[in-house]
Amino acid sequence: MNPYLRGKPLPQTHTRPTRLSTILFGAPYYPEHCDPSVWERDAQLMAKAHFNTVRMAEFAWDRLEPREGTYDFSLFKEVIALLGGYGIRTILCTPTPTPPRWLTRAHPEVLRVMPDGRRCTHGSRQHACYAGEAFRRHGRRITRAMAQAFAQDPNVVGWQTDNELNCGFSECVCPNCQVEYRRFLKRKYGSIDALNGAWGTAFWALTYGDFDDVEIPYQRRPGSENPSARLDYYRYLSHIAVRFQREQVRELRRANLDWFVIHNGIFQHLDYYELSKDLDFLGFDNYPAFRLDTAPTKAEGAACIASRLDQARSYSGNLIVPEQQAGAGGQKAYLHDNPRPGEMRLWSYQSLAHGADGILHFRWRTCRFGAEEYWCGILDHDSVPRRRYREAQQEGAEFARLAADLLGTHVHIDVGILHSPEQDDAHRALSLGLPTPLEAAEHLHRALWMGKFAVGYVNPADGFHGLKLLVLPHLAMCDQELASKLTHYVEKGGTLLIGARSATKNMDNVVIEETPPGLLRDLAGITVEEYGKRPERHYRIILEQEVMPALWYEVLQPTVAEVLATWRGGHIDGQPAVTLATVGEGKVIYVGTYLARETADWIVRLAVQQTAVEPLLTDVPPAVEVTMRESERGKLLFLLNHGDQPHTLRGLPGGLDILHNEPVGEELQLAPRQVAIIAIGD
Ligand code: GAL
Ligand code: ZN
Repeated sequence: MNPYLRGKPLPQTHTRPTRLSTILFGAPYYPEHCDPSVWERDAQLMAKAHFNTVRMAEFAWDRLEPREGTYDFSLFKEVIALLGGYGIRTILCTPTPTPPRWLTRAHPEVLRVMPDGRRCTHGSRQHACYAGEAFRRHGRRITRAMAQAFAQDPNVVGWQTDNELNCGFSECVCPNCQVEYRRFLKRKYGSIDALNGAWGTAFWALTYGDFDDVEIPYQRRPGSENPSARLDYYRYLSHIAVRFQREQVRELRRANLDWFVIHNGIFQHLDYYELSKDLDFLGFDNYPAFRLDTAPTKAEGAACIASRLDQARSYSGNLIVPEQQAGAGGQKAYLHDNPRPGEMRLWSYQSLAHGADGILHFRWRTCRFGAEEYWCGILDHDSVPRRRYREAQQEGAEFARLAADLLGTHVHIDVGILHSPEQDDAHRALSLGLPTPLEAAEHLHRALWMGKFAVGYVNPADGFHGLKLLVLPHLAMCDQELASKLTHYVEKGGTLLIGARSATKNMDNVVIEETPPGLLRDLAGITVEEYGKRPERHYRIILEQEVMPALWYEVLQPTVAEVLATWRGGHIDGQPAVTLATVGEGKVIYVGTYLARETADWIVRLAVQQTAVEPLLTDVPPAVEVTMRESERGKLLFLLNHGDQPHTLRGLPGGLDILHNEPVGEELQLAPRQVAIIAIGD
């Protein structure tokens, strides 16, 4: 029995809690980077900081298998046992992000080939391609050897597959990819005629006579390529990563069914919803400084991180953060701002507030050598525990106390924004210079977050149960299945907000022949008469005397919908821009423009007018974040002050602040970078 798990596996949904029985807390640990004489002291310091988990070995293949077929797991066995003695258990990783030199030397064909046709050389990480049989075989072999060696070890509670698949690079055009890409297409289409039909190869005489005619997309060809072919290439990249991981997961489950298996993301051209089906839950590596360093205000920065966390949660529900920033991060060309006192802990709480059930701080100690010798961990190079250590210690003590209340709860959302990596990839294949659906949706997410609404992302394949407002933000590809799900959702009383250009393509990324919005025409009660980009140069949208600039315009022709807003200016003056249709017990709002920074607040106000959706709290300043986790046991309101000023919050529901174990009334003072978690009374 895994001491860190409880209950049965749950179906995949954004409201799924993890099965963890304890909030995982600790750090990625690299005992192979330091002298064995420091291990014991590390363990003592970790125990004093209330660590219960470390993650190890993702970059240690050279140590685990110094020569092909010669395994040496002694270092990790020793460290795992030592830490176990202090109550700290281990998540082991398959070490495939860093195949060792003997492997790349014996099999140079495992090295990735970049889209410009040049092969990677050994010398960094993530240099091997997931497609080739040799690398996959070695990946399975080292995974099996490790899994068997640790299968009976009570201190190993789970595994992470690889490390950040697709981080840095996603694309590869190596000869193995060429072969595998053709196989992928053959399996998908069956016949080359079907592929020609789906891709529309009649355009520019691309017609293929055989699957062997299809080439992997090198950069060295004319730039304007077929968008359906490009999308299938992106799908292929996701497929080889999912398959690569699945082969490892199989080895791990075969050795010990009781382990949890995770992966850490999130990066491009990988469908994490698919990838997560093989996992117990997903991990999201959270490095806020990448966004905060350039954000105009703390609130804006926090809104960005919130969106990323929500995006990660949409793939498999609650998650853990296997790497939560613990200091300034630095690589060759940059060094982040040092987190201010309290900021690292605040970031951890923000992760919890968005569904994390575990936090590991990257990393335990700053490494003295290598590409990340200034990627600052909890301890500095000299191992002296300073303020970051003390802050971690505080988190550890608090998380241990919070576990009973927090675990088993999920993040409550009223507004779901549909997000799928595949739809973003479809857009990237022919973007027209417009933002991806997710980038556009982030403006709406930000506006809702600032308004303290309970917002999150939802995968189109997931359930929509309980959502008061569902947003379809320019997802161009639509099939009958999605159209039926959306119809059902609305008929049962939901409000659907459809953004411009939605449902204008089929799942092959080909434009439909029906008038837009195609399969959603009846639902929206409109057709699109005319569309175009950059209306701000000529037109404005107007609603209730308010005038909005916009990125895109559509002139709508209502069939049954009523007009809520019209265009002003040019030849479209007075034409419908926004409409509302009533369908069954629900409503459909069609917004004939793109979600953009300028329009997002206005669209939120419009949607709120038409929906019974209320903010979690009102009169809260921008820098104070509000989220809610809940279960049948009750509701937990998270309040986080990301700003540099104290704030007094009024009109609170009242309850027990479970972090400070104090009753809270209607009013609460929140100091800068402070957090409160209120168990709301009935
Ligand atoms: C992550 C990665 C870590 C480390 C960290 C800081 O992407 O998983 O190994 O590189 O970033 O750069
Ligand atoms: Zn390849």
